[in-house]
Amino acid sequence: GGLATYDPGFVNTASCRSAVTFIDGDEGILEYRGYPIEQLAEHSTFLEVSYLLLNGELPTSDQLGQWTHDVTHHTFLHENIKGLMTGFRYDAHPMGMLMSSVSALSTFYPDASDIADPANRYLQTTRMIAKMPTIGAFAYRHSQGKPYVYPDNELSYCANFLSMLFKMSEPTYAADERLVKALEVLFILHADHEQNCSTNAVRSVGSSQVDPYSAVAAGIGALYGPLHGGANEAVLKMLRRIGSTDNIPGFIAGVKEGKEKLMGFGHRVYKNYDPRAKIIKKACDDVFEVTGINPLLEIALELEKIALEDEYFVSRKLYPNVDFYSGLIYEALQFPPEMFTVLFAIGRTPGWLAQWQELVVDKEQKIARPKQIYTGHRTRDFVPMGQR
Ligand code: CMC
Repeated sequence: GGLATYDPGFVNTASCRSAVTFIDGDEGILEYRGYPIEQLAEHSTFLEVSYLLLNGELPTSDQLGQWTHDVTHHTFLHENIKGLMTGFRYDAHPMGMLMSSVSALSTFYPDASDIADPANRYLQTTRMIAKMPTIGAFAYRHSQGKPYVYPDNELSYCANFLSMLFKMSEPTYAADERLVKALEVLFILHADHEQNCSTNAVRSVGSSQVDPYSAVAAGIGALYGPLHGGANEAVLKMLRRIGSTDNIPGFIAGVKEGKEKLMGFGHRVYKNYDPRAKIIKKACDDVFEVTGINPLLEIALELEKIALEDEYFVSRKLYPNVDFYSGLIYEALQFPPEMFTVLFAIGRTPGWLAQWQELVVDKEQKIARPKQIYTGHRTRDFVPMGQR
C-alpha cells in the first residue's frame, strides 16, 4: 500500500550503502576505497586494485603475494567448459559466450551457493577473477577458428591474457611490456564505477542470495547492451566515417543541428572531463609508440580540441568520456570490435564482486523488489470468447 515515488531508472534513489567507490561528477573525481584513480593507474597493478576493491585496504607485500598466487592457481577452465564453448556457432558474439560460460560455472562449482561462508566466498571470488580472461580469450580464439591457448601461469595476469589471445605456436612469445602495462591501466580504469547498470544488476540478482556466478552473469548481460558497454565501438565507427580532419567542421555542424551525437562525449554523472579519459589519452601515446600511430588518433585529437572550445559542448558540459580513446587502444592492440566489451567485463569483475560481497554481509539489505505505479485497469469481469 501507500503511494510510491516515481523514479524511472532510479536516477534519484539510493538502493544501497557502499564504501567501495566515490564519484564526484562535477569535479571529475573517481576514487576506489578513497584512493584517486590517477594514483592507482600510475602505481598499481590490476590484481592489487582488485585486492583493494575486495578488501578495502591496499595489500602488504605478503598479502599481495598470496592473492596473486591464489588467483593464478585458478586460471584453468574445466575441460567441459571448453567443450561448452566449442558448441557455439563460429560467429557467436564473445559477450554471449562469456555470459553463458560464467553462468555455467555455477553448475561446476555448486558449493558456490553457500554464500554465508567467508572462506567459500573468497574461493569463488578468486576463481571468477582468474577464469574471466581465460573464457574471454577462448571466446576470441573460437571466433577466429583458432585452437585455444591454455593459461601460462608463469606470466602476470595481463601478460597471460595477451598470451592466450595472441600466442600462435612460437614458444618464445612475449608481449611487449608497454602493451601489458597499457592493459593493466585499462583494466584498473574499468574496475568499478559505483551503481552503474551492470553493478546494479549484480546486486539486484545477488539480493535473492543466488550464487555469485549467476549474479555476475546478470551483470555481463547488462554490460552487453549498447547504452552501457558498447560506446567505444561506436566511437571508432564515427572516426572512420569522418575519415579526415578536413571533414570535422562539417561533422560538428551536423552534431549541433541534432543530426547525430558526438560519440564518446557526455556522461550521466561526469559534467567535467572524465578522469579516466585523461589517463587513457596518456596510455594511447605509450601504445602507439609500440604499434605505430593509428591515423584515427589524429582525427580524435582534433575533434576533441574543436569540441572543447565550442559553445554548444561547453554550455552543455560535454567532455570526453572513458570511451572516447579506449577503442583506439583496443584496436591498436589488435582486438576486433566485438571483443571491446569483453575487455570491459574482465576489468569490471572485481568491482562486481566487491559490491556483491558488500551486499551479502550488509544486514540492512533486502531482496531487490521496487515499487511500481500501476496504470492498468481495475477489477473487471471475464468476457467469454464469443463476446470479445
Ligand atoms: N553529442 C552531442 N550532444 C550531446 C551529447 C553528445 N555526445 N551528449 C549529450 N548531448 C546533448 C543533448 O542532446 C542535450 O542537449 P539539449 O539540452 O539541447 O537537449 C544535452 O547535451 C544533455 O544531454 P542528455 O542526453 O540529457 O544527457 P544524459 O546524461 O541523459 O546522457 C549520455 C548521457 C552519455 C547518454 C550522452 O551524453 C550520450 O549519449 N553520449 C554519447 C554516447 C557515449 O559516449 N556513451 C558512453 C558513456 S560512458 C561509458 C558507460 O557508462 O558505459
